Amino acid sequence: MQYSQNMASAPLLDISALSIAFGEQPAVDRIAFQIHDGETLGLVGESGSGKSATSLALLRLLPPSATVTGNLSFGGYDLLALSEREIRRLRGREIAMIFQEPMTALNPVMPVGAQIAEAVEAHHPELSRRQVRDRVLQAMHEVALPDPERRLRDYPHQFSGGQRQRILIAMAVVNRPRLLIADEPTTALDVTVQAQILALLNRLRKTHNLSMLFISHDLAVVSQVADRVAVMQHGHIVEQAPAGQLFRSPEHPYTRRLLASAPTMRTDRSRPLATLG
Ligand SMILES: Nc1ncnc2c1ncn2[C@@H]1O[C@H](COP(=O)(O)OP(=O)(O)OP(=O)(O)O)[C@@H](O)[C@H]1O
Ligand SMILES: [Mg+2]
Repeated sequence: MQYSQNMASAPLLDISALSIAFGEQPAVDRIAFQIHDGETLGLVGESGSGKSATSLALLRLLPPSATVTGNLSFGGYDLLALSEREIRRLRGREIAMIFQEPMTALNPVMPVGAQIAEAVEAHHPELSRRQVRDRVLQAMHEVALPDPERRLRDYPHQFSGGQRQRILIAMAVVNRPRLLIADEPTTALDVTVQAQILALLNRLRKTHNLSMLFISHDLAVVSQVADRVAVMQHGHIVEQAPAGQLFRSPEHPYTRRLLASAPTMRTDRSRPLATLG
């Protein structure tokens, strides 16, 4: 397995004692986790447990009302110590993010090709227009958007929800980031499209050795992508384990409750069906 080989090397992302408060209100309390090269960590937990706050803290995108403390190291950088300019360079180029709602994250009045091109130009002003266009088309091919050359000039509303999420993923991976943060990337999609997007993310992380922080309230979804899973409740990580182990033998009562509410994962095919009548 890819990530066990890398366990000996320094983790790409190394978080310890991360606490976040909004004013006087604590939201995240001294959590710790690591992500190695090529590894996907699933972060699960109920609404309000602090998942998004954690991911936004990594990118330093929380509002000024938030107090963030702890050790946040990414590829040797101390994320909390970087200047505004340095963190902006890192965002999008080394750490990219995709969100739940593709429509709100896209500009409705700009063709999708131009939006992906903007993501490239923001970090690579040295590229010619032709080179930018080539990268845009390549990214659109990679996320399996149909007929990229023709659809480059189409607007977001001319695509389906699943295709819009593919466009956002193209924008996220076009600069070859090392870490992708995906915050509920499939929650707004129906089950079939959700499965296709998860398959795409799995393919991308293999081909690019991409590390991923995959956030969801849905343990069944997380089980399809994560190598390891961290379970959050009320701002704490209550359990963290390799995915297989967590699903086979959850230790914390809250993890057990989460598993119990995900019926698709509990179906035990090794046991005979309950006798009817
Ligand atoms: N900008 C903010 N200002 C004040 N409080 C906030 C802010 N953002 C988040 N919070 C609070 O921090 C806590 C954690 O919120 P967060 O958005 O991280 O939860 P979450 O686990 O992502 O939930 P969900 O599954 O609903 O997305 C919540 O109590 C929330 O109300
Ligand atoms: Mg959230």
